[in-house]
Amino acid sequence: MRLRFTALLAVLLVPALGWAAAPAKPLAKAPVALKTLFPQGKLIGAAVGNDAIITPSNAHYDAAYNRTLLQNFNTIVAENAFKGWIWKGRACGERGCHNVIDFSHADRIAAFARANHLRLRGHVLVYYHVVPAWLSQQTKYDAKQRTWVYAPTHEPIRVLLRDYVRDVMTHFKGQVFEWDVVNEAVSDKAPFGPWPAWNPETCSATQHCDFWETTIGPSYPERAFVWANAVDQQTGAGAQLFYNDYNNDAYNGIDDPGFSHPLTKAEAVSDLAYKIQHTPGAHIDGVGLQAHLKAGTIWGKRQRNLARRYQKLGLDLMVTELDARIPLYGKRPTRRQLRQQARTYASVTRFVLGTPNVQGMLLWGFTDRYSWIPRWQHGWGAGLPFNAQEQPKPALFAMEKALRAH
Ligand code: XIL
Repeated sequence: MRLRFTALLAVLLVPALGWAAAPAKPLAKAPVALKTLFPQGKLIGAAVGNDAIITPSNAHYDAAYNRTLLQNFNTIVAENAFKGWIWKGRACGERGCHNVIDFSHADRIAAFARANHLRLRGHVLVYYHVVPAWLSQQTKYDAKQRTWVYAPTHEPIRVLLRDYVRDVMTHFKGQVFEWDVVNEAVSDKAPFGPWPAWNPETCSATQHCDFWETTIGPSYPERAFVWANAVDQQTGAGAQLFYNDYNNDAYNGIDDPGFSHPLTKAEAVSDLAYKIQHTPGAHIDGVGLQAHLKAGTIWGKRQRNLARRYQKLGLDLMVTELDARIPLYGKRPTRRQLRQQARTYASVTRFVLGTPNVQGMLLWGFTDRYSWIPRWQHGWGAGLPFNAQEQPKPALFAMEKALRAH
């Protein structure tokens, strides 16, 4: 009796629900879910460009973006929301001076990570590219103190930055699992030393002058790792401390004894990491390889050599900002270009999977819709594994294939 009743119910209900019109052709392939394919312990992440995108109440909310993000990634990093622009000024009262920092934007990203069980990477504490104007414009050399100071309060810049590192790390204690403490302190031309010094007259309009190098000294990266380590210890946060840079992935395997003539930027950066390791009070866990690549670049032996070099130092690596740009000059990418790009993504994925001291890979965004490339690299674009319509590209399927083959 019960059987007959169920059958009757099905006859009545199925057409109403539209099941009767089930397509004869096979179902479309299930969408790729990268994070489910990565082995335990390896991170797969993406930079999120704008917290408006991940806040449903905002006009820019993009449901498809959210879906793809949560489906594929177990880690996020804020593309801009944690950068030095949040540092709004210095306020002084009876009890001394303190930094004024606007955490509102960054907090929303952190809350999103928490709510969705995503790991949050912190980018970045000390970066010469994002020195706030209120600070650089009011910095002068104090001959009496023999140091660069913030003019309104006469405090050394060193003290301000130290407090800033403390304030930001303390604010995100327990939320950020890994910090880029210093970004891009090594110049990209031989001999890969510091960037040119900062000069208030000539440098305001150019990017490649290092404010921190001038006002704090050439050892500011080491100092920053001393400060960051102290805060991490005091707060018990247990975050990992990273140095991050670009063009530092290709190591030719030839050791240059001593630090005076590094042959590649990769070598110069690993020398810096070594110096940080041997600075009293400092601590470093690893080095970030930004990996803003050109489509067609293949990672292999040179990157594995590099990983071994770091392994000997007891340091980890992380691919922090992967994209693989295509020269478009107003055109759409060709199939060939997309195939080349797919090979790039597959090679980086294989490197991450096959190298024990690589923690994982983070992409600098995931859809061409919001990528930084067209705005920053004229003529180039389409560097990410989802296109501007947020559809998967060959690069995504190539990553999937590399993961399944592993
Ligand atoms: C870029 C962002 O993607 C842009 O939106 C912003 O306008 C400039 O900075 N290396 C880094 C990142 O470490 O912080 C940079 O991000 C890209 C290069």
